[in-house]
Formats: sequence, C-alpha cells, structure tokens
Amino acid sequence: MFQTIGIAGSGLMGTAIAEVNILSKFNIILFDSNSEQLNKAQKKISSRLNKHKQDGIKDGRINYASDISLFKSCNLVIECVTEDEKIKARLLDQIGRIIHKHTILASNTSSISINRLSNSTKNPTNFIGLHFMNPPQIIKLVEIIPNSKTDIQIVDNIKDYVAKLNMQFVISDDQPGFIVNRVLIPMINEAVHALESGLSDVQSIDKALKLGANFPMGPLQLADFIGLDTCLYIMQILIKDFENPKYKPCHLLEDYVRQGKLGRKTGEGFYKY
Ligand SMILES: NC(=O)c1ccc[n+]([C@@H]2O[C@H](COP(=O)([O-])OP(=O)(O)OC[C@H]3O[C@@H](n4cnc5c(N)ncnc54)[C@H](O)[C@@H]3O)[C@@H](O)[C@H]2O)c1
Repeated sequence: MFQTIGIAGSGLMGTAIAEVNILSKFNIILFDSNSEQLNKAQKKISSRLNKHKQDGIKDGRINYASDISLFKSCNLVIECVTEDEKIKARLLDQIGRIIHKHTILASNTSSISINRLSNSTKNPTNFIGLHFMNPPQIIKLVEIIPNSKTDIQIVDNIKDYVAKLNMQFVISDDQPGFIVNRVLIPMINEAVHALESGLSDVQSIDKALKLGANFPMGPLQLADFIGLDTCLYIMQILIKDFENPKYKPCHLLEDYVRQGKLGRKTGEGFYKY
C-alpha cells in the first residue's frame, strides 16, 4: 500500500484531498506552482487538522512543496490542477519524467478524457482517472476511470486505496464528464438558464429544488460551491467532446466567470460569502 502521496495543485480540491489522506494516515507532498496559493493551503489545512489533534493527527504528515522533484518519493501522485487540458497535459508530462516507473499517476479531472490525457504521460499503463467529489470530507464517493491501457493491477491498487480512505467507488467508462458531472453540470447550467430567463430568483430556484426534489443543496448554491469557472470548463468540455449544442454553456454563467465571480472561493457567485 502507498505511504507517500503527491498532490499537484493546492486549490479547493487539492487541499481537501490532502486532508482526507492525512486523516487516513498517509504522508502527503502538496505541490503548487503558485506560492501564494500554497501558503493559503497551509493555513487552511493546519486549522482543519487542529480539530483532529486529539486523534493523534499532526500536520507533520504534510510537506508543502514548490519543488516538483519531491514527487520522486511518492507511490501515487494525484494531479489536481485547473480544469484546463493544456495545463494538465504539460504538468502530467513533467511529473512523468520525475516519478518512479512503478508510481501510479492519477488525474482528478472532472471531465477531460483520460485516454487523451494518457498521451501526455510517460507510462499510460500506470495512469488512471480518480475523481473525488467536493467536498471529499463529506461525499464519500470517487469515480475510477481507467484508460484503454491502464493495467488491471493498477485499478485493483486504486480500489484498495479508496477502501483505505473509507470511501466508495464507481467505475466509469472514459466519456466526457464521466457519470456524476455528465448529469450534474448540465442540470446546474439549466438552473442558470432558468435564472437568466427570469423564471425566478436565485433563492427560489434553490428552494424549489431543495424542497421539491429533496436535493440537500440547491443547484445555484452547489455551483458556487464547485466554482463557477470549474462548471464552465466542464460545460465547454461536454460541448466540444460530444459535439452536441445541448451542452452550450449559459451566457449568464460565462458572464459571472468573466467578472471573476467564481462562487465561494472568490467571495461572490450567485450568493455573497
Ligand atoms: N471544484 C470542484 O467542485 C471539483 C470537484 C471534483 C473535481 N474537481 C477537479 O479538480 C481539479 C482542481 O479543481 P479545483 O476546484 O481545486 O481548482 P482551483 O482553481 O481551486 O485550484 C487549482 C490549483 O491548481 C494550481 N495550478 C494551476 N496550474 C498549475 C501547475 N502547472 N502546476 C501546479 N499547480 C498548478 C493553481 O495554482 C491552483 O492552486 C480540476 O480538474 C477540477 O475539475 C473539482
């Protein structure tokens, strides 16, 4: 089983995935190319881990790295950077040159083809999609997406790792958005269309879905939680890869992202925080 896990990208998901791994007693190397972001991640994770001090959890298990070569010591590296294919491809290539040949390389992409990304890795047989949901501290599901060359042993190792995290998995074929986002993000996009068309206001749309469809969270509140930029990136992948206009991102969603209103992470989206 893995001892040291590398995470590339210390944003919303990278920090949360680091936290769940530390709570399961894995050692973490958290890398980001943006040192400001890394400092923010350090503050966030330290304060969260403080709550677990009585369980013997210490933040000594995590190393905040601005030097990617530290991934050399990892058994598993999870790529968790911005949902942009070019950025991911470049980084996967870079990581592939550093890690040991037996190290598993995984991507937390929400929607980008794992087969296409595998072309940027040195060793596609050890590359796999491993899609955590937000927030992984609460949502105990990951999607596992093998590429056409992924070794069956790697899939089994990842299943064992997921069990160690006390999480469940589903295996998905490598289609855009996989299972969860194929259904979820177009639904969020439709909620934004409903808002744009004047069907109702933000609070009422969320209330309607919470009470009328028994959703734990309204779709617009959820969009703020995910990040409106990430929702937009996923819609762009769906429309491009399926070549189907039904996935066209709503103008209002594009407007919010253009204005830098990305949801909770920037303090404003459909709601103010
Ligand atoms: N936000 C969600 O709800 C959610 C849920 C599941 C999966 N994901 C996926 O997780 C990934 C990360 O999403 P996020 O919401 O954490 O994004 P984010 O914008 O919060 O964080 C992205 C991080 O990547 C870093 N980064 C960018 N380029 C880099 C590079 N070349 N090298 C190192 N670091 C780099 C940025 O500095 C930033 O810290 C995406 O693929 C996204 O689709 C997101």
